[in-house]
Amino acid sequence: MRTLRDAAADADVHVGAAVDVDALRTDTDYRQTLAREFDAVTAENAMKWGPLADGERGYDFADADDVVEFADRHDMYVRGHALVWHRMYPEWVRPWTRSAADADRLLRNHIYTVAGRYRGRVDAWDVVNEAVADDGGLRETQWLDALGPEYVDRAFEYAADVSDADLFYNDYGADGLSAKADEVYDLVSDLVARGAPIDGVGLQLHVFDDLVPPADVAANVERLTDLGLDVHVTELDVGIGEAVADREAQAEYYHDVVAAAVDAGADTVVTWGVDDGQSWLPPLGHGEAPLLFDEEFARKPAHGAVVDALSE
Ligand code: XIL
Repeated sequence: MRTLRDAAADADVHVGAAVDVDALRTDTDYRQTLAREFDAVTAENAMKWGPLADGERGYDFADADDVVEFADRHDMYVRGHALVWHRMYPEWVRPWTRSAADADRLLRNHIYTVAGRYRGRVDAWDVVNEAVADDGGLRETQWLDALGPEYVDRAFEYAADVSDADLFYNDYGADGLSAKADEVYDLVSDLVARGAPIDGVGLQLHVFDDLVPPADVAANVERLTDLGLDVHVTELDVGIGEAVADREAQAEYYHDVVAAAVDAGADTVVTWGVDDGQSWLPPLGHGEAPLLFDEEFARKPAHGAVVDALSE
């Protein structure tokens, strides 16, 4: 059976996985599966502000460096995730009482520090993650509060100052055709129209309640690529439960959604984890066994389905 990596190379796309640093350090099967099957990685948590800088003492890049070094050693594409997000940031960043000047300095310093460090080694950055609120408009965050909607533009500009990576806006619930997908589309078209240095849009594609129709994903990818933007599927997983009944249905959906996205022009597909044992979804009650490998790193039907989708 072909590896995902072989199929991706033939299809001229990247296929990646979110990486858990503890598993990377301690589990040989995990490392071997990752290197054999995938040609792209995203740090699942290690490049988020909180994990990077939890105390006041500054940044600790040990975990993030390990992910990037593994990727270098195995010739993998690196997605950096995520520079600006409303979750998982240090307590000391939390206060909403900052002046605009202070907030701006903090945002710029963070982006310069992190994106600057990995210049030339991170290929794509999720610059702004999940900025659109579920009920419309921009989500209330300290950045919106202090700087207004322009904080999004500034984040992209700061990233462009120090990084040569492709710069992405990334979100969930905006994968197919929905009110939120329209909001994301409007946000990124405005950025493009203003000449902001945005290169792409990430569709997270976490699937656990409803199946997003693959045809809708294709339509969304098409309208985004029509703006001149690159599209990546950034956090794909499909929980068994509400969304799909069993491994066979899971495989079928993986096949159809990957084929739809790639045919429509998405050129990178990242699953949110390597194996079912590491996935974030089951502990949240969002479905079981959502990935392409089981806890023993055996290939599931979904693995073959993705290989097929990339081989057609
Ligand atoms: C998740 C991680 O998988 C978990 O380990 C962590 O506890 C919380 O964050 N959208 C994103 C990702 O952009 O960063 C999130 O990752 C999942 C939802």
